[in-house]
Amino acid sequence: MNDVSSDVREVTGTAFVVAEFRARENEEPHPLYRDNVVPIFLDERTRAAADRIRADFPAGEHMPRLRTRYYDDRLDEQIANGCRQVVILGSGLDTRAVRKAAPNVAYFEIEDDRTIALKKARYAANGITQPMTLIPGDYVASGVIRMLAAHGFDTRLPSFFIWEGNTMYLTRQAVMTVLRDLKENLGRFAISFDYMDEAVVEMTTGDAGATAFVERFAAMGAPWTFGFHDLTALADEAGLTIADATTMGNLFRTYWPGRAMQSVIYDHYGICTLTSPA
Ligand SMILES: C[S@@+](CC[C@H](N)C(=O)[O-])C[C@H]1O[C@@H](n2cnc3c(N)ncnc32)[C@H](O)[C@@H]1O
Repeated sequence: MNDVSSDVREVTGTAFVVAEFRARENEEPHPLYRDNVVPIFLDERTRAAADRIRADFPAGEHMPRLRTRYYDDRLDEQIANGCRQVVILGSGLDTRAVRKAAPNVAYFEIEDDRTIALKKARYAANGITQPMTLIPGDYVASGVIRMLAAHGFDTRLPSFFIWEGNTMYLTRQAVMTVLRDLKENLGRFAISFDYMDEAVVEMTTGDAGATAFVERFAAMGAPWTFGFHDLTALADEAGLTIADATTMGNLFRTYWPGRAMQSVIYDHYGICTLTSPA
């Protein structure tokens, strides 16, 4: 295979690892969600890369599955509440534009050009025709609103942004720039994103499994560069309102009450929804 998935490395490669983990939830007797589209992106190379990252640390695989359910739930709510545009930043192999297609809701994705090319090719090869606008490029370098505006996005319509599995690869400055860009240019909007705290990124949790997991991402050329714990300070600085905030630990205890957690990392991994001020 001569495409981006043939070498699952660096930050673009992490999308293939997450896609593998996400697909595995389909095999559960009572899955948190179903993603019957994502297998079209998977093969023996993506499976091997995911197995290398997971190693003997089940949390590494369970966290993306828990967060997928969180974003799916927020998306369902946003669509029910009249959202007209969904933007998925750093979308990787996210399939929500297909799985969650809805009348009068337009989907936009921004992602690295090679992943966008692969996605288009696999969707076409599998007869997937749901309308969506796939925008190749770097939203930090080019600016989210500038990229969207050049592709038919309407800044006046209520919009929902999904920013999944991205902030840990950025800097605080880049995260603030994205949030301020939305705040300054949009009317009604919400954005959901997940974030590790400093202890995970700095490998000071004391959990050997968590530390080794972070080291394995660095070894594949995708080091985690940003973590924070004070969501209130970040939201205040961006001028946004916290609509919802929880942790993977809380999601784990809610959805899997009978299971043993086995790592403290879940309580170091936050997920939230911010909105434009009322
Ligand atoms: C861990 S993956 C998550 C993919 C997807 N959101 C998911 O959860 O399945 C991170 C993705 O963000 C993309 N990404 C990170 N920074 C980006 C940027 N500045 N512009 C565009 N894409 C970016 C990477 O290419 C990669 O596909």
